[in-house]
Amino acid sequence: MVQQVLVTGAAGFIGFHLSQRLLRQGDRVVGIDNLNDYYEVSLKQGRLEILQESDNFQFQQLDLSDRDGIARLFAENSFDVVVNLAAQAGVRYSLENPYAYLNSNLAGFLNILEGCRHHEVKHLVFASSSSVYGVNKKIPFSLEDPVDEPISLYAASKKANELMAHSYSHLYNIPTTGLRFFTVYGPWGRPDMAYFKFTRAIAQNQAIDVYNQGRMKRDFTYIDDVVEGVVRVMAKIPDPQGQSQARYKVYNIGNNQPVELLTFIETLETCLGKTAQKNLLPMQPGDVPITYADVDELMADVGFRPQTPLAQGLQKFVDWYQGYYKV
Ligand SMILES: NC(=O)c1ccc[n+]([C@@H]2O[C@H](COP(=O)([O-])OP(=O)(O)OC[C@H]3O[C@@H](n4cnc5c(N)ncnc54)[C@H](O)[C@@H]3O)[C@@H](O)[C@H]2O)c1
Repeated sequence: MVQQVLVTGAAGFIGFHLSQRLLRQGDRVVGIDNLNDYYEVSLKQGRLEILQESDNFQFQQLDLSDRDGIARLFAENSFDVVVNLAAQAGVRYSLENPYAYLNSNLAGFLNILEGCRHHEVKHLVFASSSSVYGVNKKIPFSLEDPVDEPISLYAASKKANELMAHSYSHLYNIPTTGLRFFTVYGPWGRPDMAYFKFTRAIAQNQAIDVYNQGRMKRDFTYIDDVVEGVVRVMAKIPDPQGQSQARYKVYNIGNNQPVELLTFIETLETCLGKTAQKNLLPMQPGDVPITYADVDELMADVGFRPQTPLAQGLQKFVDWYQGYYKV
């Protein structure tokens, strides 16, 4: 059955790949994005140009925090599924510009919830983040672990999204699923993230800043695995859960295989055929030492777990990088 899907943040990294996949499977996609300049806008425009090749894709430049604009968007369309990926992302930037998180992640998300409340949306899927686990010592990070101690405003905004979504799901019977993504990487990725910055610096023979002396671990997750997970979750309406009996569920989407940053850099060096000059630096405020996803519930409910090995995914990223930037 053809679905009409709203993808917010469609010009973003994950939103672009998800929209591409939905269009390929024959769905109709309405994409919105404010095209802000947190990172190079040309990359967002490049992604949009590809999506706009499809007649089933419609784009509107719209800000999540534009209350009337979002209300109009919902009134003028009839969305089966809403996937909210637009957000101010980035842990470190939330120390510099906290109000961006208030506007996009909190006020903006409320507008999406209100849209779902007043129109018959069959399923709301939204992006949360592994950062909600804070400095959780227990690994892998399981859905039962406490997430009450965020160590950045970004993480706090994502935890707030989970709470806001739960209340709306309960009050207005909106089937809702939150996805805690773990360090997503791949072609058309995000220039503000370490893997992208490292690639750029190594390619240009510049030194890279390696925090926590390279001893932190990340559960690097390849974009195609994330998209596969999102598409399967979109089709899985949550059963009533917990004491509230809300149709509300959260999943981890991660590779379940954390890699130390120094190992990551070695893999990248192999892909690029170049050696990195490393500035080993202390841990940054807001950063966590490890992320590691327990994906058993995802596997049990939708029959899928991310599985792309880092060396394979990273080579695809590097190939794209070299082609896109002609280096
Ligand atoms: N990439 C990751 O590793 C990762 C990890 C955990 C969580 N997430 C979450 O997944 C989602 C997608 O992330 P991404 O990596 O694609 O990031 P991204 O920055 O590439 O995409 C987000 C898009 O949303 C748009 N946007 C931001 N604020 C907006 C607003 N107020 N109104 C309209 N559009 C707005 C941006 O212009 C951007 O194109 C985000 O919610 C992010 O917090 C990503």
